[in-house]
Amino acid sequence: MLNTEKADIAVLVSGGGTNLQALIDAQTDGIIKSGQISIVISDNPNAYALERAKKAGIKTAVVTKKSRGIAFEDDIIELLNENGIELVVLAGFMTILSSKFTKAFENRIINVHPSLIPSFCGKGFYGLKVHEAALNKGVKVTGATVHFVNEIPDGGEIIMQKAVDVLEGDTPETLQKRVMIEAEWIILPKATELVCSKIMNKGE
Ligand code: GAR
Repeated sequence: MLNTEKADIAVLVSGGGTNLQALIDAQTDGIIKSGQISIVISDNPNAYALERAKKAGIKTAVVTKKSRGIAFEDDIIELLNENGIELVVLAGFMTILSSKFTKAFENRIINVHPSLIPSFCGKGFYGLKVHEAALNKGVKVTGATVHFVNEIPDGGEIIMQKAVDVLEGDTPETLQKRVMIEAEWIILPKATELVCSKIMNKGE
């Protein structure tokens, strides 16, 4: 633990890590002040998110399902315990966690999802697929949600949401980018601070 007045955060990633970057920047800018990112854990050894963490001087770890099979989650839990982690932030983490895992960290795992839950969420809705589904349905407004993680994919209590307009001519890619810029990168740091401040105020 670097600072006992701040909640130790683990960020779990799988890909580009733009949401991780938003968290790192929010920590630098003082938007996140009740927590500190202590470790970034990736289930993909090639995730660019790992480079972002290293550039920011944050400890990294890679745990892959391929190499560890069912022990995959146990390895992550061990890393979380070893590092005294109080909050787990899923930032583009593409593995669905088992109920054993979510129960071990009840109310201590949050996730950012690129739609207004309960629309376009649950198993099979991740990354660009979410925006493809929103465009196929023809919705005029979409957005992002930060929620607690329980055993139901995208089913935990909602913490924060932000709406984003769908524009004429949007492709899944343009919509994804707008949802990130206008919603995800704003509400994920804010929700992280909110949950960390609650954890610290409880004196846990
Ligand atoms: C983000 O849009 C995130 O909301 C989404 O994947 C992207 C990851 O981007 N997550 C999910 O779809 C989870 N169901 P990033 O690696 O650049 O943060």
